[in-house]
Amino acid sequence: MLTNPTPIEHILHHSHCVLDIKRLDQIHPFVSGNKFFKLKYNIQEAIRLKKDTLITFGGAYSNHILATAYSAQQHQLQSIGIIRGDELRDKPLNTTLTQAHHFGMQLEFIDRATYKQRHDDAFLLQLQQHYPNSYIIPEGGTNHLAIQGCQDILTTAEKQYYDFICVAVGTGGTIAGLIESTTSKNHILGISILKENFLQQHIQTLTTQSHWTLHHHYHFGGYAKISDELIHFIKKFEQTYHIPLEPIYTGKMVYAVFDLISQNYFPKHSKILLIHSGGLQGKASLMP
Ligand SMILES: Cc1ncc(COP(=O)(O)O)c(C=O)c1O
Repeated sequence: MLTNPTPIEHILHHSHCVLDIKRLDQIHPFVSGNKFFKLKYNIQEAIRLKKDTLITFGGAYSNHILATAYSAQQHQLQSIGIIRGDELRDKPLNTTLTQAHHFGMQLEFIDRATYKQRHDDAFLLQLQQHYPNSYIIPEGGTNHLAIQGCQDILTTAEKQYYDFICVAVGTGGTIAGLIESTTSKNHILGISILKENFLQQHIQTLTTQSHWTLHHHYHFGGYAKISDELIHFIKKFEQTYHIPLEPIYTGKMVYAVFDLISQNYFPKHSKILLIHSGGLQGKASLMP
């Protein structure tokens, strides 16, 4: 496993801007990208509390589910994944869930209406009572320890050098960590991959700082929605720069930043850093 600092690769260096990418995807094949940072203090806490099981939530392609399954096994903990969609119970497992199961995760498929209760106190209390020695991590891994972990993503030298740090946003934990660990010297640019419009307000509950902007126009129809234009962009990017992207998070984020550059959104001579937040494990099932 690679630890910080992860490699930075150059994408564009021209008179208008510098564009680099920080390859968190290279940390590990299963605990890659932001997952490593989101889980590290949570696992320490589970061990400190002498818990024997990690429980978490996710969809069938969730990067977080797989990362939790692998990390639990590495730390001799049991794991339970509560998976959205009871219709999946009788179907063959996809690659993500097959690997999670292989790492010892017990998979519990629940219907979508029940899954909606995943943040409710009463639901979580019931779950905790059912598995008293478990440590529950929310969907996407985002809680205060995940945000603390994401504060370790950037090195001091990176914070001093870059003007803009760009990241894909799903539950808001990663961007919150980046915001909390930087100052107004760095502007943090989030690209929402969700169609729903609650993230702006949600991130405001995770930070009191204001050196960030959330862009809402690059979700391509919503979570896991993919268009020919997006696939074309990803393939062209991969051929040109030899850096893999996936279509749910990093593909949309990199597309957005290229689009913003073409609109002269960034001031001249800006130094821009893209955060490659991983997620490549589910790619084969998602891209034609
Ligand atoms: C690959 C990848 N990138 C970005 C994100 C977005 O991170 P966050 O949910 O912390 O906003 C996720 C989801 O956790 C992810 O799996």
